[in-house]
Amino acid sequence: MCGIVGYVGTQQAAPILLEGLSRLEYRGYDSAGVCVEQNGVLKVEKAKGRLQNLIAKTENGALLPGTLGIGHTRWATHGEPNDTNSHPHVSQNGKIAVVHNGIIENYLELREFLQQKGVQFASQTDTEVVAQLMEYCMGLPEVETVSDALYMVLHRIEGAYALGILCSDDPDHVYAARKDAPLLIGFGEGENFIASDVTALVKYTRDVVYMDDGEVAVLGRDGVQVYNAMELPIEKEHHHIDWEISAAEKGGYEHFMLKEIMEEPEALRRAILPRIKDGAVVFDGLMLDSSCYDCIKIIACGSSYHVGMVGKYNLEKLTRMPVEVILASEFRYCSPIVNERTLAIIISQSGETLDTMAALREAKSLGARILSIVNVVGSSIARESDDVLYTWAGPEIAVATTKAYSTQMAVLDLLAVYLAAQRNTISAEEANRLTAAIAALPAQVEQILSSREQIQYYASQYFNHDSVFFIGRNLDYALGMEGSLKLKEISYIHSEAYASGELKHGTISLIEPGTLVIALGTYGPLFDKAMSNVIEVKARGASVLALTTENRREALSSRVDGILTIPETELPLLPLLGVVPLQLFAYYVALQRGCDIDKPRNLAKSVPAGVFYGSTRFRLPGRIRFSLRMLSECGMMKKTEKGVFL
Ligand code: G6P
Repeated sequence: MCGIVGYVGTQQAAPILLEGLSRLEYRGYDSAGVCVEQNGVLKVEKAKGRLQNLIAKTENGALLPGTLGIGHTRWATHGEPNDTNSHPHVSQNGKIAVVHNGIIENYLELREFLQQKGVQFASQTDTEVVAQLMEYCMGLPEVETVSDALYMVLHRIEGAYALGILCSDDPDHVYAARKDAPLLIGFGEGENFIASDVTALVKYTRDVVYMDDGEVAVLGRDGVQVYNAMELPIEKEHHHIDWEISAAEKGGYEHFMLKEIMEEPEALRRAILPRIKDGAVVFDGLMLDSSCYDCIKIIACGSSYHVGMVGKYNLEKLTRMPVEVILASEFRYCSPIVNERTLAIIISQSGETLDTMAALREAKSLGARILSIVNVVGSSIARESDDVLYTWAGPEIAVATTKAYSTQMAVLDLLAVYLAAQRNTISAEEANRLTAAIAALPAQVEQILSSREQIQYYASQYFNHDSVFFIGRNLDYALGMEGSLKLKEISYIHSEAYASGELKHGTISLIEPGTLVIALGTYGPLFDKAMSNVIEVKARGASVLALTTENRREALSSRVDGILTIPETELPLLPLLGVVPLQLFAYYVALQRGCDIDKPRNLAKSVPAGVFYGSTRFRLPGRIRFSLRMLSECGMMKKTEKGVFL
């Protein structure tokens, strides 16, 4: 996902922009660029590939003097990753520079319109349309200010955007606008910032404001003014960032992923312990009467979806409510049966995944109550939910999620116990036992981490396999889904997860001598069945690495080629412990294979949707209604079946 940084102040902008961009690298990108204003001229430098190329090209910003600028890491959507398509995009007369995160859906139509007016485009991107349209609007006789032009542009573009804009005619301000893509403002002394996420700013300020959809911000050295879609100035709530910059640094580890795995015990303590009081689960501020709901829909993408799979087993078993877990990217297209008696649980680390956001809005519009489990405080999903349970995992930088996954699951486990106790579907004794077991998880994860050399050893044995199958039943199946995803995303080994019982319906034909099967047998009640599947694949020559609980090691040792174990815990909690060895296994395999672990190819930490959803129109700001006639005259008015729109 693209990253944006902007700066206005008294320090040199370029080094600050580059530093900020380096903090956003984890989001995934394939080129980077910066634009700095100097004596009324906008100077741009871009470089394909790693940010380091841009840092070298600009001598860490020294070749771009100036105290006002914008920067961008681009994740290519429209047009291949190259210097031309990278942001910032500059308008034809060189006076407007734009960085953009999101997708302008109607860019082709606007591009055609501008081309008819004689505008020559340099790139294939949707973003360049914004720069050229800004220039065009600035030239209209009735447009007096950059803000006028910006609102006019916002009213004309459709899609998702976070925008950072410079205009050389106004060299004291950075302009920003947001719709369905994250953007926040950082406040400093005589300097102000914009960024896609707080990690880019935390070195400079901890005082931030999250922009909402439809808002525009004008940042100067001495202050920032935010306007709503009606172009009225508004006051925004300030948030204080309380985590240390070290939380977003590697702290001596070779990779963020390993650091974040090692942080799991601490993250789990933060997620769990404040929610247990006197041996019972409490969620401060949560007023959720589960008798108001007939069913639960869990909606998420990627690893968060896998947490939801575990959640389905546990919530159904403990609360006896029907639970469906649905991929957010499918939700809008599957005619979901949702109404005001539906509790929708939205799970998202970033709180910005657009498919998840779109599903949230769909569920909300159908009447569901939205409870989200989110890591990033103040993110869009958190703000649009009726209730938010934060995971408090701290910043997660590696693309492959680890501590966020574990804390999401811990929060969902706590919620399952909380709802079950409320509904009297488990006894007080069982609730106490489960709660105590949840409280013990951080120390048990510590225990697993302390024996990571053994996992590293197995990784060294199996790292050169081309194809791996994870098999398991019930919770072990859900666990296998995440183990398999971790392995394939960072090591590029083809890997699939199957419910063991499905092996005989096709997959077993792929098992041949030497195929690696990771057999998950942590779930005691189905251990014997898991064993029978191990026997089946062994009989066909597979190498089997098993994961089970400590007390079953003996029962397995003669039947498999390697064993990883986790401590004993209550059944619903097994996947939370089981995932840790699988995360480490994937990490060490990828390390052996020399992969770019923190930034795997083609993947991004936070994923925008390819197609925008919902209403894409920006409300007409009062002050520019005057321009309706003018736009009509210049051909920017569009007639549709429903009437006339800008
Ligand atoms: C990307 C990340 C995954 C994550 C998924 C959903 O694919 O690489 O780690 O699980 O998005 O993201 P979210 O932020 O909504 O949990």
